[in-house]
Amino acid sequence: MTPAPFPAARLRRLRRTRALRDMVQENGLSASDLIWPVFIRDGDGIEDPIPSLPGVSRLSIDKLLGAAADAYALGIPAICLFPYTDPSLRTDTCEEAWNPDNLTNRAICALKQDLPDLMVMTDIALDPYNANGHDGLVVDGRILNDETVEALVRMGLAQAEAGADILGPSDMMDGRIGALRSALEAAGHKDIAILSYAAKFASGFYGPFRDAVGASGRLVGDKATYQINPANREEALACVARDLAEGADMVMVKPGMPYLDICRAVRDRFQRPTFAYQVSGEYAMLMAAAQNGWLDGEKVMLESMMAFKRAGCDGVLTYFAPRVAAALKG
Ligand code: PBG
Repeated sequence: MTPAPFPAARLRRLRRTRALRDMVQENGLSASDLIWPVFIRDGDGIEDPIPSLPGVSRLSIDKLLGAAADAYALGIPAICLFPYTDPSLRTDTCEEAWNPDNLTNRAICALKQDLPDLMVMTDIALDPYNANGHDGLVVDGRILNDETVEALVRMGLAQAEAGADILGPSDMMDGRIGALRSALEAAGHKDIAILSYAAKFASGFYGPFRDAVGASGRLVGDKATYQINPANREEALACVARDLAEGADMVMVKPGMPYLDICRAVRDRFQRPTFAYQVSGEYAMLMAAAQNGWLDGEKVMLESMMAFKRAGCDGVLTYFAPRVAAALKG
């Protein structure tokens, strides 16, 4: 067979001008796709930089309110709170986690008073309160499932009472979504949404986060007995199916970029609101390369966001959220 005298398909035709490229663009990105994770700490007037997360600081509540107002003005619909708990309040029994006046609950109240339309999401797991850095209660070196679920339910109810809009269980215990959902119903919190960290892998990419919440030096062992083995796809999908059946409204895949195949599989199989968490290590590696001049930081930031949308995610939790929103506006 003789080859055709010209290419059979000239796919470059629609790439010729910016306007043509925009016309046929398949996926879009907007500020409303973003959830901004923020680290908080006690004090007043404090912005305490986190060395392994360049550009990210732990904020005292007064600073949080200013930053949250700016984020909301940029079109970011939700922020997610992560507390740095004073070491004196970290115990093996973790009761600070459900103290109605703990740092997170005070921050929720302050945010809802100042910015009632900004959605406030929380993290439900014991690690910021645990003397040993684990997400669950530890006895004789083992993480207790059912006792941890009881503690998590107390923690979630306290956050609901404080005014949280979205609860984010990130602990990976079995049965926590069902237990939390029935406790919320029983307490009259019928409209509080659950965004379950459903497909959460036992990842090395959480390192800088553990620095930020002060858990890294404390963690005894690893989280492999509760977080998912990075080699497993079907197990991740089983976790998502289970969490949706137990009452999760939205589900998350975490980490993000190395797990885009999981995002796509969750989107295709369940067709429910699906989020990815571009975690601390992903942010840190892009920032480190950008700071060295090895990558164009703005370009890879936006490209990584579009990759999540292309993989089927409805939205992304990312430390880049305010910068992405500002770039989209500019
Ligand atoms: C705590 C929690 C972690 C993250 C979110 N919630 C850390 C962990 O599981 O060890 C990680 C987020 C990030 O790395 O940005 N359960």
